[in-house]
Amino acid sequence: MEKRQEENSINYFEEIKKFRKEKNAIILAHYYVDGEIQDIADFTGDSLALSQKAAETDADIIVFVGVHFMAETAKILSPSKKVLLPDLEAGCSLADSCPTKEFDEFIKLHPNHTVVSYINTTAEVKALTDIVCTSSNAVEIIRTIPEGEKIIFGPDRNLGNYISRLTGRKMVIWDGACHVHNEFSLEGILKLKEENPNAKLISHPECPKPILLVSDFIGSTKALVDFSVKDPSNKFIVATEPGVLHEMKKLSKNKEFIPAPGESGECACSECEYMKKNSIEKLYLCLKNETPEILMEKELMDNARSSINKMLDISKKLGL
Ligand code: 13P
Ligand code: SF4
Repeated sequence: MEKRQEENSINYFEEIKKFRKEKNAIILAHYYVDGEIQDIADFTGDSLALSQKAAETDADIIVFVGVHFMAETAKILSPSKKVLLPDLEAGCSLADSCPTKEFDEFIKLHPNHTVVSYINTTAEVKALTDIVCTSSNAVEIIRTIPEGEKIIFGPDRNLGNYISRLTGRKMVIWDGACHVHNEFSLEGILKLKEENPNAKLISHPECPKPILLVSDFIGSTKALVDFSVKDPSNKFIVATEPGVLHEMKKLSKNKEFIPAPGESGECACSECEYMKKNSIEKLYLCLKNETPEILMEKELMDNARSSINKMLDISKKLGL
């Protein structure tokens, strides 16, 4: 009880800044975490930009305020650094939808295929993968694979089908999905569009096809942010995790952003509960105590690294 009172009187923001400096730590945050965390982070971005930052930083400690597979990727790319995740329970339903053993069997059922996996996978699945991708570079990565080469894509079926439609490439697609993006309500979105005829619907490619078909723009989290800045419209219905509205509102103070409703019909019900496991208090405790730390077997990191590095190399060449 006394400890709780003591923690309540702490200025977390000041303490975080102090520890960050003392410990030469960098705080990386995904757009889906709470706005106050995005504001104190050294860098806020989408999965691709965060993995690029994690690979190039010279900090001694990386605090990854996101979900487990992101912190794991940072550790694989910077194995000599201490990588911390404020809450080890911050998982991902999409990564969970692709268990290693089943994915391995799926690959064996389809021999002689190039395996492309979304970054939202465990390190074990990355170790079975030829090239990792994110929603920012998936289309370009598929286009680098020579025509005629057979492709397995996992684990997100919505993203896989979207890329397949865009590139015209037939792929064997794993049947996984993110519970946040997969559960937006088409009916609720159409109602919102009717009530806001001047608003543009902008959607993440992890959303199902019926939602993508009625969207004005489809893109990764970063692409949605950039579009909301550049597009002359003043109103946007945003079909992705609502944490990103913080950055959109910051960059376009006079524009209106409406979170797309989930199946339950209420706004902001499409929050990713895993991303929201992060809090300022947990970030403070994590930096102070240097725990929870991401620890992985060297062999697993070595086996998973080449598929991530291939993605980073291709992205660099393409200026992504
Ligand atoms: P991006 O960060 O690549 O847009 O991915 C979205 C997502 O769901 C992250 O977990
Ligand atoms: Fe995973 Fe979906 Fe949450 Fe992203 S939004 S971390 S894909 S569950």
